[in-house]
Amino acid sequence: MTILVPGGAGYIGSHTVNDLIKNGYDVAVVDNLATGYAKSVNSKARLYEGDIRDKEFMSEIFDKENIDAVIHFAGSSVVPESMQHPIKYFDNNVYGMITLLEMMEKYKVKNLVFSSSAAVYGEPKAVPIKESDATNPTNPYGESKLIIERLMKWADQAYGINSIALRYFNVGGASIDGIIGEQHNPETHLIPIVLQVAEGKRDKLQIYGTDYDTNDGTNVRDYVHVVDLANAHILAMQYLLNGGKSDIFNLGSSRGFSNMEILDAARRVTNKEIPAEFADRRPGDPGTLIADSTKARKVLHWQPKYESIEKIISSAWHFIEKHPNGLN
Ligand code: UFG
Repeated sequence: MTILVPGGAGYIGSHTVNDLIKNGYDVAVVDNLATGYAKSVNSKARLYEGDIRDKEFMSEIFDKENIDAVIHFAGSSVVPESMQHPIKYFDNNVYGMITLLEMMEKYKVKNLVFSSSAAVYGEPKAVPIKESDATNPTNPYGESKLIIERLMKWADQAYGINSIALRYFNVGGASIDGIIGEQHNPETHLIPIVLQVAEGKRDKLQIYGTDYDTNDGTNVRDYVHVVDLANAHILAMQYLLNGGKSDIFNLGSSRGFSNMEILDAARRVTNKEIPAEFADRRPGDPGTLIADSTKARKVLHWQPKYESIEKIISSAWHFIEKHPNGLN
């Protein structure tokens, strides 16, 4: 069975490709390598380098490959960048999905798993957040994911493309062997930045916002290990292949950690001082995001294995120690 993975050279995509291969699937990856790394793609997968918005290129792949399902990661995913360049986000993310759905309709591919985000909820009225709660994105990134979810709904109704949107909360960690992991350029995510300070590649951490309505005033997020997150995609795909209907699932640990708690945990894991200072709020940041992921656990039988925050941070640290010069 062949699975097409747009964005399979990226952080979460490359971990999912590994899991697909481990589970015996044949995998074709499409990636323009704008933020992904060819090196991260499992050598048993076929890598097609190009952009999902390029219809001619995509037609060639759909002609050549006998695709049974698509697990779609390709897109831009940096919240602050989306605030500055909203059109880039709608072009890359929304138009990318339009092209993909056109291809799936034309080539009669009926199963799609999509990398959505907790950013669709915006500032929640209450936590933990359920899939049925209101969606009011506070940034263009989250808005682009929500538009895509709506496209998926209509594509199911019109063309019978079954789809699952997985709304990730905050993802961290790296493969347990430390071979692949998180590397963005520039880096904006909390855990890799904290670890860059621990490594000595940055002077200090800036903690954005200390006046949020949380215990210590800093933002609270729900962290999930990338290996557990990758596995949820396989379960979602198998659910669709076994006749499951289109749906939406939150993926998180259902526990929140403040930015200060992440810093403390990273100090414990790395045994480094990690200098930090307080700074202004970052525009577009909701205060607290914690998932209710009961539905994924019940319906998809998702069972995260690496739930402790120390495990998430220590696997990210292991990856960094193994790659002092990064993935390049
Ligand atoms: N933060 C800092 N200093 C930094 C970097 C981040 O204080 O140098 C703070 C942020 O302000 C935020 C928290 O750390 O409070 C986490 O920020 P990240 O950038 O690591 O992650 P986000 O919560 O902004 O975004 C992530 C994903 C999105 C997803 C969102 C929803 O990148 O795709 O989680 O939970 F939408």
